[in-house]
Amino acid sequence: MPLITTLKSRIVYNSRGNQTVEVDIITDDRYIGRACAPSGASVGKHEAQSFPQNEPLRAIQVLNSHLGKFIGAEASDPKAIFEIIKNIDSTPSYNIIGGSMAYALSIAAVDSASKALGIPLANLLRNNKPCKSPFPLGNFLGGGAHAGPGTPDIQEILVCPIGAADIKQALEMNFYVHRELRKLLENEDKSFTNGRGDEGAWAPRVNNDKALELAERSIKNSGFEIGSDLALGIDFAASSLWNGDNQRYEYRRQEMSRDTDEQIEFVNSLVQRYNLIYIEDPVHEEDFESMAEITRRNQKCIVTGDDMLVTNKERVIEASKYGACSGAILKVNQAGTLYEALLFSEECKRKNLKIITSHRSGESVDSHISHIAVATQSKMIKSGIVGGERVAKLNELLRLTEYGLIDGMADLSS
Ligand code: PGA
Ligand code: ZN
Repeated sequence: MPLITTLKSRIVYNSRGNQTVEVDIITDDRYIGRACAPSGASVGKHEAQSFPQNEPLRAIQVLNSHLGKFIGAEASDPKAIFEIIKNIDSTPSYNIIGGSMAYALSIAAVDSASKALGIPLANLLRNNKPCKSPFPLGNFLGGGAHAGPGTPDIQEILVCPIGAADIKQALEMNFYVHRELRKLLENEDKSFTNGRGDEGAWAPRVNNDKALELAERSIKNSGFEIGSDLALGIDFAASSLWNGDNQRYEYRRQEMSRDTDEQIEFVNSLVQRYNLIYIEDPVHEEDFESMAEITRRNQKCIVTGDDMLVTNKERVIEASKYGACSGAILKVNQAGTLYEALLFSEECKRKNLKIITSHRSGESVDSHISHIAVATQSKMIKSGIVGGERVAKLNELLRLTEYGLIDGMADLSS
């Protein structure tokens, strides 16, 4: 069994050019595992704190004063690594060592172990479960916290190639409509610069209505059928629209606002109008009741909690009491460690929530989340469409298919 012999960490930069932490873990004196922590822009209130006092360097200093605790630990066991980290930092939000460091340590450990054992990471984590490919869910038009003024208030309009026979076809369908959408945007606005937001989605100067209309048209113009070939989704990231003081969702770029009932009606009407297969955080992170109502009224749509569930098992248990959510975003760095994210995935399965493993808007070129998506039997992987750090995850799914680890596409219906 691979035992940790060396461990070091450093500051590197993410896709936004912000500092983050990277960890190298060496097992048995020769197998190097490496992981770099991603980071979000629309961050859930209950997710792990990224860095102690917002200082990546502080996380490294804390780790350096506890390095000895990791030496000799079993790298293939996410629980063992979790316990060491908890021994250093027992706060629920990782205020002392930072969720980013917890992420990088726990992923670097299994990365190293998979190399020592000579098996893909997905294989190490999967517990003999069948491995299907998640469908790529790609952000192709966006605004909100990921793009500048003039872009839609809605954070992400997403596309999913639900009719694809395999991952290669799925990726090509997404690339195709992403390109087609650019043409439509250029026709719509002659001054469109082809600007893109943090996740590679087009970031045009259009309002929410126009954005959705053009997204739909890009699918139809590509010769695809909505609902059988490709389907649309929306991440409202509604916590960033919510103003708790006046209890309204503020669509500032559209210069209007909605109260909770109006927001629910707005969401329901969009699901119907655009046959949405997927919606994420349609109401703010604490409103389990409204989320439950939306879930009840849209049973064919995957009503997903991201900021609401923050990859936290207890939040899934709480949401389920209300019947809120039929889908759950899994972002390991929201939880902190891989072990906690795996506990979350097991709870989601118990509660019949579909898992969608996701990137963050600030990313690295790592592709561990592709393995995690496969091993947790995620129905979808949300990792953008274009951009080196986005495509890195998607290309890894092609490799896993070539290795024979993936056998067909996930079943979205069950
Ligand atoms: P984040 O956003 O990575 O910026 O938090 C992604 C999302 O809300 O899904
Ligand atoms: Zn989200």
